[in-house]
Amino acid sequence: MDLNGSRVIVAGATGEFGATLSRELAGAGAEVGVMGRDAEKLESLADELGIPSARFDATDTQSCRRGVDALAAALGGLDVLAVTAGVAAFGEATEVSTETVGELFAVNVLGPIALIDAALGHLPEDGAVVALSAIVAEYPTAGLSAYSASKSALSAYVTALRRERRKRGLTVLDVRPPHMDTAFSDRALTGDPPPLPDPVDHRDVVAAVLDALREGRREVAWDLKSKALVARG
Ligand SMILES: NC(=O)c1ccc[n+]([C@@H]2O[C@H](COP(=O)([O-])OP(=O)(O)OC[C@H]3O[C@@H](n4cnc5c(N)ncnc54)[C@H](OP(=O)(O)O)[C@@H]3O)[C@@H](O)[C@H]2O)c1
Repeated sequence: MDLNGSRVIVAGATGEFGATLSRELAGAGAEVGVMGRDAEKLESLADELGIPSARFDATDTQSCRRGVDALAAALGGLDVLAVTAGVAAFGEATEVSTETVGELFAVNVLGPIALIDAALGHLPEDGAVVALSAIVAEYPTAGLSAYSASKSALSAYVTALRRERRKRGLTVLDVRPPHMDTAFSDRALTGDPPPLPDPVDHRDVVAAVLDALREGRREVAWDLKSKALVARG
């Protein structure tokens, strides 16, 4: 895919990863629209880049749909949806309440599915969907049971979507980063993180996502043996 001139929505652009992704996409010539929950951060990024924006809350699926529809209209169409919104909850299986697990799945699974569903009404057959799952989707981790389960669910959803649309040419990119340098774990719904490895520079993951989109890959993942980002498919 040629990113130059492509119309892209980043849902979760108020986060550190989403903001960097939005800036890099704009730098590559894409026409970007940004979605976020925090009004101040969203306005500031949209003003900096001179691009349209829409507020949403991932726990409100109607706001997911409204935001995608409004930005697709503002951009005059849509070629790529990137869902980067997400939240963590730390604790062993019995330590995270059922209510918190519900909120976690609302943000990490139901909201992204609503965003993707809305985007599929606008994307061309050879468009692209990018979803930020996580390394824990592939390697469920002790102390991260509920978070691992939510990211596995998102990863399974986009994998099945890719299989459904393979013949029609839709690129579905599952991004499974390891721990990154974004302070994501400080904003968890509950609990303290287990010991985490040294963080990866999120800008390297963003660069790998842009390359993978250009090449039509299906996964950007972390290879545990070589300790490096790899693009698969
Ligand atoms: N950082 C890591 O170590 C790591 C590793 C693997 C995967 N990931 C995934 O990478 C993605 C980006 O995270 P990040 O590192 O950039 O962390 P971040 O800076 O904390 O960004 C999180 C984003 O999620 C949004 N969000 C949270 N709850 C929301 C809700 N209810 N409705 C709408 N948006 C909501 C935040 O929006 P507001 O700021 O507007 O509230 C923000 O845009 C997440 O999906 C995360 O699971 C992160």
